[in-house]
Amino acid sequence: MQLRDQRILLTGASSGIGRELALELARRGARIALVARRSEPLQAVAGEITAMGGTAVAVVADVTTSEGRAACIAQSTRALGGLDVLINGAGTSDFAHFACADPVQLEQIIKTNLLAPMLLAREVLPQMIRQKSGRIVNIGSIFGSIGFAYFAAYSSTKFGLRGFSEALRRELHGTGVGVTYAAPRAVKTALNSPSVLQMADAVGMKMDEPVHIAAWIVRAIEKDRKDAYYGAAERFFVKLNGLFPRLVDRGLDKQNRAMRDFAQPTSR
Ligand SMILES: NC(=O)c1ccc[n+]([C@@H]2O[C@H](COP(=O)([O-])OP(=O)(O)OC[C@H]3O[C@@H](n4cnc5c(N)ncnc54)[C@H](OP(=O)(O)O)[C@@H]3O)[C@@H](O)[C@H]2O)c1
Repeated sequence: MQLRDQRILLTGASSGIGRELALELARRGARIALVARRSEPLQAVAGEITAMGGTAVAVVADVTTSEGRAACIAQSTRALGGLDVLINGAGTSDFAHFACADPVQLEQIIKTNLLAPMLLAREVLPQMIRQKSGRIVNIGSIFGSIGFAYFAAYSSTKFGLRGFSEALRRELHGTGVGVTYAAPRAVKTALNSPSVLQMADAVGMKMDEPVHIAAWIVRAIEKDRKDAYYGAAERFFVKLNGLFPRLVDRGLDKQNRAMRDFAQPTSR
């Protein structure tokens, strides 16, 4: 897909990977509707894009609410004259012993990472199918193929997003609308709390720069990739976990013990 003049709805554009994605897409000439809840950082990204001669509109909205999603669709369609690409980038996480996971946060993770991407895709698809072209891009994670201890809620949503991407891609075959599932490994963003950063340091987990991952995701979109997994070792472990999960259980055992003390402790 040539990105020049493509009309893109990007959620999670106020920080981290989404912010860098917005800038990279703008450099390729795409016209973008940027979505997040915090107005100030979102307007700053839109301002940067406008200053470089690009087109960006900021849509302050919460994707977990029906009003927020309606605003995303209405404002982006009005500003851009339609949509060619939806990028589901908004996300949230939790790093806790599951037995003490906060039920409200659990619901928020599922709504943000899985339900909102599905409902937004449902909204944009009829128009894309009518125009016989378009792309849904779901930002997943390596945790969506390998279940990680103390990230049970987050892993579940990314497993779900991967399943949704695969099923939807098969359903849309022949319509001209494609689906890309892009799975980074750990990235240095605000998604990862200080305790996650300490844990990553202790277990030697590799963490990438968001600008680098954003450029990689843009290349995956340009190449119409179906699935993209970042990192040769991670791609190998994803395959190994699919074929021999008990081997991976054993391989992760030592790391799990090291992670235990960093995750929010069970307190009930
Ligand atoms: N960082 C990693 O290690 C890593 C690894 C693999 C995959 N990912 C995935 O990459 C994506 C981006 O994450 P990130 O690492 O860049 O984290 P981040 O810096 O925390 O960015 C998350 C973005 O999502 C937005 N967001 C969260 N909840 C929202 C809601 N209810 N409605 C609208 N926007 C919402 C946030 O904006 P507001 O707070 O302003 O709403 C922010 O722009 C996520 O899907 C994440 O799962 C991250």
